[in-house]
Amino acid sequence: MSTSASDNFLKLVEVRRSNYTLSASSPIPDSKIVEIVQTAVKYAPSTYNVQSARAVVLFRAEHQQFWDISAKHFSPLPIAEGAKAYMTARIAAFRASYGTVLFFEDQAALDALGAKNAMVQPLLAEFSDHSSGMNQFIVWTAFNAEGLGCNLQHFNFLPAITADAISAFGLPETWKLKAQLVFGAPTAPPLEKKLEPIETRVIVKG
Ligand SMILES: Cc1cc2nc3c(=O)[nH]c(=O)nc-3n(C[C@H](O)[C@H](O)[C@H](O)COP(=O)(O)O)c2cc1C
Repeated sequence: MSTSASDNFLKLVEVRRSNYTLSASSPIPDSKIVEIVQTAVKYAPSTYNVQSARAVVLFRAEHQQFWDISAKHFSPLPIAEGAKAYMTARIAAFRASYGTVLFFEDQAALDALGAKNAMVQPLLAEFSDHSSGMNQFIVWTAFNAEGLGCNLQHFNFLPAITADAISAFGLPETWKLKAQLVFGAPTAPPLEKKLEPIETRVIVKG
């Protein structure tokens, strides 16, 4: 097969994986981790170039604090004991990893765009999610390329977790938490992944 300009990029797309067995260490310096997040947030696309993506990179005590906040709000939930024990162990594993990137969208920036542009206004919530996902994907793929394992979490499903995180880290109230990317040096390879046949998923016409 011939090589082309996109090969290196697509190879990184192919090898990006979820890994839940992470240690509290990193194969790369913190400065490189921050640089990757800055590059993603700077260059990822957004609707009308609104640049509503925000990120907070948590290391050490603050990383642990986020997962302590999540555990505090998760533990009183009225769910089955088995499910609770499973999730409690997962939260402990996230806390025992090296760090977490919190991905936010700034609702103030989106509201300002919506006020100026009535056509895009009804689509802004969806576009904000799309754009945040692009930011998440860039960071996840780049971290994996540097040997950092990652898994993507959504503990923003409990609004109290977002509220506590905003208060704990001194963030603007208009920032809406979308996802958390947990990272650390992998202690085991990712689980095998089954792929559906691509021919039924990508249709080509003409
Ligand atoms: C939009 C989105 C939401 C996800 N949410 C979670 C999540 O809340 N918790 C989790 O452990 N993994 C989550 N994942 C990871 C997926 O389970 C994972 O990407 C999928 O099983 C494929 O595995 P891979 O990442 O190794 O390719 C999410 C992935 C995407 C794209």
